[in-house]
Amino acid sequence: MIYLEYNIEGQFKEHDSLRLAMSDDTANAFLNDFAQTKQGNDTIFACWARYQAAVADGHDAVNGTIGALLENDGNLAINQTVDSFVRNSPPIEIAAYAPLKGLPEFLDLAVTLALGDARSELENIGVHHTATASPGGSGALYLAAANFADRGSKVLLRDRHWGPYDGFLAGCDLGIETYPLLGGNNSTVDVESMISSLDRLAKQQSKVMSWLNDPAHNPTGLSLNANDRRAVLQAFSDMAMAHENVGFTLLIDAAYHLYAKEPHGWAETITDALHDGMNWPANLLITFAISLSKSHTIYGLRAGALVSIHPDESVVDRITTVMGVTGRQTWSASSRLAQYSIARIHAGEESGDAWSLELVRLTELLAQRRKLFIEECGKNGVPINPTHDGFFAWLEHDDPKSVVDSCANDHVYLVPLKGGIRIGLCAIPTEQIAKVAKTLRDALQ
Ligand SMILES: Cc1ncc(COP(=O)(O)O)c(C=O)c1O
Repeated sequence: MIYLEYNIEGQFKEHDSLRLAMSDDTANAFLNDFAQTKQGNDTIFACWARYQAAVADGHDAVNGTIGALLENDGNLAINQTVDSFVRNSPPIEIAAYAPLKGLPEFLDLAVTLALGDARSELENIGVHHTATASPGGSGALYLAAANFADRGSKVLLRDRHWGPYDGFLAGCDLGIETYPLLGGNNSTVDVESMISSLDRLAKQQSKVMSWLNDPAHNPTGLSLNANDRRAVLQAFSDMAMAHENVGFTLLIDAAYHLYAKEPHGWAETITDALHDGMNWPANLLITFAISLSKSHTIYGLRAGALVSIHPDESVVDRITTVMGVTGRQTWSASSRLAQYSIARIHAGEESGDAWSLELVRLTELLAQRRKLFIEECGKNGVPINPTHDGFFAWLEHDDPKSVVDSCANDHVYLVPLKGGIRIGLCAIPTEQIAKVAKTLRDALQ
């Protein structure tokens, strides 16, 4: 029995026994079945909190936890061109709603961010596109989850993937099927396993969607090479032809692509394959989840887009409507300020160049840390995974928590995830990279 006490004004008075009695069971009276499955802290934020506590205790702690790019002095890297355009935006662009599907100039930019220089050639070949603005890449992933798969069906992922995928999909009543990250012979994707999973799913469901975070995969830093991209694309084309009543969607999660050596590799691979005569069956859709969080250092402004491409204009037109309505029914419109200011930067040659110069500097900072980390792991016998671009590196391990705890004893803070340890090169100052490799060596002994 819960007793509530009222004070003389007739309002609730906080009462210790009430607080104690408010257990999960009580809260479950208000939470639906799906809400009741939501548990605990996000692992990454919990690890970051542990790092911060160590710093507060006066330790010279190393932060390899968060997924944001930090300068070597530990401050968040901020592209000053973006900062100045955001700050100098007119009041009306800050205060007003954006159009529900996004500002037209931003949507046009989103297509270019997805396809790069291959955009005009794809347009010439007859590939149509559509874009919908979203609150970050997460919003774009939600748009895809909500619309490109049947409730109750499964979405295909690699076994190592960004943790929040599971939640985005579960929230849309979608399950997951996974295939291994790496195939044999130094390949950058296990295409054989992917094909057998696609085939199995196509025999069970009428829509098959797969999410591939590439290039610069979170959590490994892996990027598919051109041959492997081509093999994946060919497999989707073949599968769509073999199962002509099944709709296949290949989603490229491009959250880190502008930090990769081949940022628009997918659009180039698609263009090359079409020139070489690859079929694009009508039941195959390719879609890009674009995030401006990292590329434009505006994590908190929440800007992104879902960009879909298909040879049939009526398909992309219909997707435009469906995605616009979904956004409207979920978050209303996305941030106008982000869309306006970023579109303006890229509309001017000088500002576009200034943004790009800073992106190059930050990409080089990451490349320097990665190169050093690979070298130091080599010297110390730490068997890290292949890692090429972006924010992270990865050590496969079947007891990641014990390794992370052991590193934490030396005040090196990393993130234990399913199947391994994520090393946030994006956050680790270059001069501390060698220490991280040595600490991992000691933890593995
Ligand atoms: C793999 C991956 N996809 C998508 C996102 C989406 O990021 P945001 O919603 O901040 O744009 C992130 C962010 O960390 C990510 O790591």
